[in-house]
Amino acid sequence: MDRPWASSIKCIFLLLKQKLLKELGNRWLPYLTPKDADFHQLWQENYSKLILREASRIPELLHKEVQQAFLTLRKHDCLFQDLVRIKGKNLLTPVSRLLIGNPGYTYKYLNSRLFTVPWPVEGSNIKYTEDEIFAACRAFFKLNDYLHKDTVQALDKLRLIKSEQNEDSTVFGMVPELSKSDLDMGDDMELKKRTTYNLTLLNYMDPQKMSYLKEEPYFGMGKMAVSWHHDENLVERSTVAVYSYSCEAGPEVIDDGEQSLEGRNPAVWHVGLKIAWDIETPGLAVPLHQGDCYLMLDDLNATHQHCVLAGLQPRFSSTHRVAEVEFEWLRQFWFHGHRYKKCTDWWHLPMSELEGLWKKMECVTNAVLCEIRKEGWLVEQKNEIITDLLAWLTTRQELRMEWCMRCQSRIAQNLPEDQRPICWPYWEDDDPEMPLPFDLSNIILELQGQLLKAKP
Ligand SMILES: *[C@@H]1O[C@H](CO)[C@@H](O)[C@H](O)[C@H]1NC(C)=O
Ligand SMILES: *[C@@H]1O[C@H](CO)[C@@H](O)[C@H](O)[C@H]1NC(C)=O
Ligand SMILES: *[C@@H]1O[C@H](CO)[C@@H](O)[C@H](O)[C@H]1NC(C)=O
Repeated sequence: MDRPWASSIKCIFLLLKQKLLKELGNRWLPYLTPKDADFHQLWQENYSKLILREASRIPELLHKEVQQAFLTLRKHDCLFQDLVRIKGKNLLTPVSRLLIGNPGYTYKYLNSRLFTVPWPVEGSNIKYTEDEIFAACRAFFKLNDYLHKDTVQALDKLRLIKSEQNEDSTVFGMVPELSKSDLDMGDDMELKKRTTYNLTLLNYMDPQKMSYLKEEPYFGMGKMAVSWHHDENLVERSTVAVYSYSCEAGPEVIDDGEQSLEGRNPAVWHVGLKIAWDIETPGLAVPLHQGDCYLMLDDLNATHQHCVLAGLQPRFSSTHRVAEVEFEWLRQFWFHGHRYKKCTDWWHLPMSELEGLWKKMECVTNAVLCEIRKEGWLVEQKNEIITDLLAWLTTRQELRMEWCMRCQSRIAQNLPEDQRPICWPYWEDDDPEMPLPFDLSNIILELQGQLLKAKP
């Protein structure tokens, strides 16, 4: 939910962005691709925490299993466009997604929480609707392990390079340019924490089937599948590792030679990078061929923004992350209708347990309300309790109304039956099981009135 301060910060960012675009006028900022002579130097100097692992260095068997897994999940219609909320608007993402990861984990992006289809961790006993789906989840679990090990290596290497650079500049008597934070790679415990991916967000898009894709606004990089962004809700300084699988295309499409000398090849998928709030340093567009991986190490997410530039062929990616732990689950879960049933029944039990706990919370809230309505309280004591209670109830009411609205939006109601949002928990005022009404506004008014009355 938007807090007042969060929305004013957003507003400031929006104004800055508009100002930036205005300053640019009609001219594009420069960006480099492998066709440019300075491409590798720019990468090294300003984008060194982006690491590309070309497909050829990844085991062939792993490629096979992972690529098969993507196709399986698409065949079973397991990937969904998400109904997200951006700047107060309900939008359907052009990219379809599926979250796979540790059992019971979730990940929130753009105000939408996704729940994992569990991968088969040791000792788990997960029922999948299809054997093929089990095999697919196992493939991403393997990929996750591979990428974790690979990331540890990449970070070790980065640490080495950074300390050598630092020594060099000391030897030559220069002021070390690298700030302390640049070298703050943490100890081994920290390193482990920042590379132990606990879930992967799968993405899929077929550009030919999209009637509209946004144009990249600053550099003229062409069509975007995902706009410029920082990643949210991850452990600080943790790496994001991405496996990119663009489906095979004829050689005539992939061939770079026919393309104009400037800019990226619009037939090929790219990851775009830029430094946040910087219009001096050129942007970077790195082509992603079938099976290439890239790592965004350390604080790259904080200092830089990235986007995904669409090619012509359908493309999958598996983006491995270290997720933070968070709350707000029940309504987020039912907002996705019955989509999770498609792959597994895993969430059935935890969600009904959570609902049981939530019902208890309603009962406890009611009990406190009954107590506070009784005579015999000291005024100060009573006011303190009412103030706390009001804060809780107001948040509860605001979130409830927000989710109701999201569920009732036209775009939500137009989704296919099995994905259509369910506004749940929901009940009518005369429901004998529920101690409090669904709409809390009268109770909030009552409490506010009591506070006013108590004022001298
Ligand atoms: C880009 O790299 C150059 C060379 O290391 C450096 O002087 C410059 O400050 C960097 N730009 C940014 C915005 O970090
Ligand atoms: C994911 O793993 C990291 C590192 O081990 C941990 O700090 C974080 O809490 C985990 N996320 C969840 C949702 O448990
Ligand atoms: C990514 O960067 C943004 C902007 O600096 C920051 O708000 C966000 O918390 C960062 N995410 C992680 C996981 O560090």
